[in-house]
Amino acid sequence: MALHTRLTELLDIEHPVMLAGMGGVSYHRLVAAVSEAGGIGTLGASTMSDDELPAEMAKVRAATSKPFGVDLLTAMPGQVEKGIRSVIDGGARIFVAGLGVPREAIDLLHSHNILVGSMCGKVRHAVSAVASGVDFVVAQGTEGGGHTGTVATLALVPQVVDAVGSKVPVVAAGGLFDGRGLAASLALGADGVWIGTRFIATPEARAVAGYKDALLGLAEDGTVISKSYTGKTCRVVRTEWTNHFEEHPEELQPFPQQAVASMKAGVNHLGGEDGLAVDSSREFMPCGQGVGAIDTLVPAGDIVRSMVAEAERVMEQIASTRR
Ligand SMILES: Cc1cc2nc3c(=O)[nH]c(=O)nc-3n(C[C@H](O)[C@H](O)[C@H](O)COP(=O)(O)O)c2cc1C
Repeated sequence: MALHTRLTELLDIEHPVMLAGMGGVSYHRLVAAVSEAGGIGTLGASTMSDDELPAEMAKVRAATSKPFGVDLLTAMPGQVEKGIRSVIDGGARIFVAGLGVPREAIDLLHSHNILVGSMCGKVRHAVSAVASGVDFVVAQGTEGGGHTGTVATLALVPQVVDAVGSKVPVVAAGGLFDGRGLAASLALGADGVWIGTRFIATPEARAVAGYKDALLGLAEDGTVISKSYTGKTCRVVRTEWTNHFEEHPEELQPFPQQAVASMKAGVNHLGGEDGLAVDSSREFMPCGQGVGAIDTLVPAGDIVRSMVAEAERVMEQIASTRR
């Protein structure tokens, strides 16, 4: 059995499970593992240099012939143009942007047969992204790790589905970590899931030393939305650094100065070498609220397969309760 949705059809993949393009984490090993398992992996290119992105894409292609994507967080004109050139030359199937994609960029990507997705934390972001011509939207609730908004996944997804679901597939994100979340997302009208935090706790994820261990030991209330690492609202593991700025909000600088400040202070190494030694009592570790359910490292391919198998079981169980 398999779950066929508009998303699996559009992307030509087996399972409606997408690896979030996490900066610092979603590098070639993780991306290839998720794509190879029948989902789709997305490189987190926001932390990659101009040379690193093409090299990472080549490594994904060497590891799998299945489709994969690239995510660029910012819509900074220079960064997106360069990134898009690499995406086209590097053989990606999808491009996802965190802060909107200019119309001309979408047209260019489409002319190279690359599908475009947009991250949305509000209904109006989704409406404007679809008006610009994107092929799918990711509705990310506040539960999610990384930069995040204020509306919860359970409330956001069906409202985005109502607004744009008749035009494009909607992918649910934020706090989802297993097959129950996948089944629930389908029930809300989504066509698939975009998973971040669960995939950090895998052998294939890239991470500074102590990050994965911090996740394994954390409860569901161990995260906080803080501007202390980047200057924008970001859900992270609560640390001495976030606590300090909670007590001294007057010291916060706007984006991107706060990101520079946290790097200078030696507490922000996202995108640093795999296994880099850091002080994890203060380090920048984006993380979603689903973290309390994560207590072991699991190979990424197993996560994809067990998520789909569990979603199928849950849906059968629900169907069997009907008289
Ligand atoms: C470590 C980390 C880095 C992230 N970096 C990005 C990014 O560069 N671009 C982006 O669009 N989203 C980024 N996100 C958000 C994810 O794309 C995704 O929406 C989120 O992780 C989903 O929630 P979950 O973590 O609860 O699964 C990041 C999330 C994490 C945890």
